[in-house]
Amino acid sequence: MLTIGIINGPNLNMLGKRDTDIYGNLTLEEINKKIEAFAREEDIELILKQSNSEGDIIDAIQNFSDRTDGLIINPGAYSHYSYAIADALRDCSIPKIEVHLSNIYTREDFRKKSVTASVCTEQISGFGYESYILAIYALKDLITNKQKNIG
Ligand code: DQA
Repeated sequence: MLTIGIINGPNLNMLGKRDTDIYGNLTLEEINKKIEAFAREEDIELILKQSNSEGDIIDAIQNFSDRTDGLIINPGAYSHYSYAIADALRDCSIPKIEVHLSNIYTREDFRKKSVTASVCTEQISGFGYESYILAIYALKDLITNKQKNIG
């Protein structure tokens, strides 16, 4: 059975109340239920973590690096400027996918750049909670086939 770690960064604990026009009405707990149901069908175990703190996110990346087969991370606003999280991701050698609920490339200029995506295997942005489901699907393929077939 594959194990995948999912890390959600700052303010994602406020989903359901926060900018619902952009992020939708589902709470993080509701999203987690949906992705856990999908993971169960795929025979994947998920370890879920949310933190508003940069250091906690770095600890979680280092921890998941040793315990899981792949990593999904939504670093929230840290995506746009945290070189510390980018360094932790660079040092983490398991396959990893950055996800965003919103399409960061169609929003404010400061969101169009992600310093963390460039050290992830791939990025999925703009599919709402389904970004996580697509990421689980893609990560399973990456882990099983051990390498990218394209790009
Ligand atoms: C986000 C996009 C970021 O720009 C923002 O700061 C977030 C959420 C997303 O999932 O769309 O907190 O990561």
